[in-house]
Amino acid sequence: MVSQVVQSGAAESATDLPLLSLRGISKRFGAVQALASVDFDVYRSQVVALVGDNGAGKSTLIKIISGAEKPDEGRIEVEQRSVSIHQPDDASKLGIATVYQDLALCENLDVVANLHLGREVTLPALGPLGWMNGTSMERAARELLRGLGVNIPEVRRAVAVLSGGQRQSIAVARTLLGNTKVILLDEPTAALGVAQTHQVLALISELRERGLGVVLVSHNLGNVFAVADRAVVLFLGRNNGVFDDLSRISQEEIVAAITGVDSKSHNSSLEADSQGTARRRRG
Ligand SMILES: Nc1ncnc2c1ncn2[C@@H]1O[C@H](COP(=O)(O)OP(=O)(O)OP(=O)(O)O)[C@@H](O)[C@H]1O
Ligand SMILES: [Mg+2]
Repeated sequence: MVSQVVQSGAAESATDLPLLSLRGISKRFGAVQALASVDFDVYRSQVVALVGDNGAGKSTLIKIISGAEKPDEGRIEVEQRSVSIHQPDDASKLGIATVYQDLALCENLDVVANLHLGREVTLPALGPLGWMNGTSMERAARELLRGLGVNIPEVRRAVAVLSGGQRQSIAVARTLLGNTKVILLDEPTAALGVAQTHQVLALISELRERGLGVVLVSHNLGNVFAVADRAVVLFLGRNNGVFDDLSRISQEEIVAAITGVDSKSHNSSLEADSQGTARRRRG
């Protein structure tokens, strides 16, 4: 048995219940069964890695949670309440924020403007005319970045001139200006160098410290082991293992699940998870 399914004798406290739960999620694109009855849980103050080979269904699952794709089957619960996510706006209202690889930053705008895009601070006294209050936006931007430990000395520079790590950090920081509870990061370090990757991983740890549930999609198992508490493996669109305590397993065990070796034992451990017997462990 490879998976670290941890039995808990203690009564379940609110923080042990998942913040976000997916059950039986299926999605087909024509002849391709991208997801087949997938279960997935995200807990507060925890980084869960979603791993699997190319085409395993990771991005499709992220898109379903973020409202960019609709599942054919399955149900989604946020804080034990059944929810419908038909479009990205539904996910935002539920406190679910997504940072895709292409980031969707406005290159020609500065850091402050990118952080506040779509929710500019206005002076209410001016009524419908509004008024972008540059000073308070700049102050809020500086405080947000400083609080997250993100080092961007000049917030009035266009993001086009910033490094990949700084840009990724801005895309993540921006989601925190809302009421974000769950943040979905699809390959946040894929295009980054060593130092920039380090900066983004530190930011992910900070999100966990703030109580968020963080979903990290990554092919880089070094990064997964550096920052994630749990890992959920997809193989050909199906669950193929839940590792509840990454500090107790080796990379080889995850690689076996990713490549479909010994899939029988992984699936049997998953049954235990679906029945609710798996418990959260902080790494
Ligand atoms: N819009 C779409 N139309 C048709 N097929 C799709 C679509 N989106 C995804 N697929 C297919 O669904 C499967 C899962 O794709 P998905 O992008 O979720 O994989 P992934 O795990 O994110 O892979 P990668 O690691 O390469 O990013 C693949 O076979 C892919 O070709
Ligand atoms: Mg993908």
